[in-house]
Amino acid sequence: MRTYHIETFGCQMNEHDSEGIAGILSGLGLSPVPTPEEADVLVLNTCSVRDKPQRKVFSRLGQYEQLRSSPGDRLIVVAGCMAQLIPDEIRERSPGVDLVIGPRAYGELETAVRRLMQGDATPQRVLTRCAPDAVPIPYRRESPLRARVDVMYGCDNHCAYCVVPRARGEEVSRQPDAVLREVEQLVAEGVVEVTLLGQNVNSYGRGLEPRVDFADLLARLDGIEGLQRIRFTTSHPKDVSPRLIRAMAQLPSVCEHLHLPIQAGSDRVLERMGRGHTAQQYLTLVRAVRETVPGLSLTTDVMVGFPGETREDFEATLALFEAVRFDQAFMFRYNDRPGTRADEMTDKVPEEEKQARFIELVRLQNGIAREVNEAHVGEVLEVLVEGRDPKNPEKARGRTRQNKLVIFPADEDLTGRFVHVRAVEARLWGWLGDIPNTVQSW
Ligand code: SAM
Ligand code: SF4
Ligand code: F3S
Repeated sequence: MRTYHIETFGCQMNEHDSEGIAGILSGLGLSPVPTPEEADVLVLNTCSVRDKPQRKVFSRLGQYEQLRSSPGDRLIVVAGCMAQLIPDEIRERSPGVDLVIGPRAYGELETAVRRLMQGDATPQRVLTRCAPDAVPIPYRRESPLRARVDVMYGCDNHCAYCVVPRARGEEVSRQPDAVLREVEQLVAEGVVEVTLLGQNVNSYGRGLEPRVDFADLLARLDGIEGLQRIRFTTSHPKDVSPRLIRAMAQLPSVCEHLHLPIQAGSDRVLERMGRGHTAQQYLTLVRAVRETVPGLSLTTDVMVGFPGETREDFEATLALFEAVRFDQAFMFRYNDRPGTRADEMTDKVPEEEKQARFIELVRLQNGIAREVNEAHVGEVLEVLVEGRDPKNPEKARGRTRQNKLVIFPADEDLTGRFVHVRAVEARLWGWLGDIPNTVQSW
């Protein structure tokens, strides 16, 4: 066995876990290859948040089994949230899977894969929940400039529609010293931007001794020399504290971007979802953050067609979107997930109605996002250049502190540099830009 291929579904946590899986497999002497056909070890890092990515995984498993010329010819590993939630279904539907491993068990991945590589053909299932940092994971990160860093695992919120708490387990925070050491090491290796990850970073520190909260963690990270940008995701509106808002305003490396999922604009729906706040509380919070953090970009998650959502409820979502004017929104049609409270609710919204509401909301939000970006045309923005634009290699692409994309012509390779770029033409995702003659890069 010499090569591996990982396909990742789902959120940033899974993307980051895949960097850990890649590091562990590299440590076993395997090299990454771009296609499954070339790989000896095939890994699917799966997501259960909606039905579609699950179905895709089962069809991929069928294709992977077809690639085998004889049993044991390649190893097939299913990792991630599906592995934790439906290990039996995976084994039944895809008997050729060698290893099913849950998202909190990667501390045991090396041993499990080593055993399989040594010829032990017994299929394995590892669903243990390792304590944070019990086994250091040798992440093999995608970017030398920007790194994701876990600050906590799991979720204790139990929103009525969501499988994440069962897939990822109870909420546990990493010790601040462990996070600090990891980020210091990354910065020493050249990283200039980190994204701190957790399902609800605002409750970071719950259960840790001595007491610490997310604002404290940001302050400690902000003190690291050479770290230019700190981002974090996801924030839960009910746990955003005045201390966090102040920290965002005062700490120079904390970026002016807040991802703050609203999920619905109607109080009745928010209540049935179990979100723990009202639309008015959300609007008050948004006002407070915007007043305190100039230049803030605000993004959200929302779903339409939650059980019992009436036309009037949906109009409350439209009204909230018009009132807030989000920079960007990740929009979803509610999807029944087995084992959730919402799945048991009987007043489901018909699929056609969900689709119609979805289109209406996407249309509204796309118009808003474009207008928001148009208002910044002509401004000069600080862009961290990530590299060439894959579609236009004569152009460079990078992101602003607000996490918006900017694509602009560049003769030289500016990768890793901070460049002042003028926003010339608004797009949904950011701007096409140019470098004004009078400004410098650094
Ligand atoms: N922890 C984050 C939060 O509280 O907002 C996000 C977690 S989830 C991985 C990402 C998004 O998927 C959610 O914000 C929600 O909008 C969406 N989502 C979760 N369950 C869903 C479901 N059953 N149907 C449709 N969308 C769902
Ligand atoms: Fe799911 Fe709610 Fe936890 Fe987010 S806060 S992961 S939506 S249960
Ligand atoms: Fe999916 Fe698990 Fe993330 S269910 S969205 S990969 S936490």
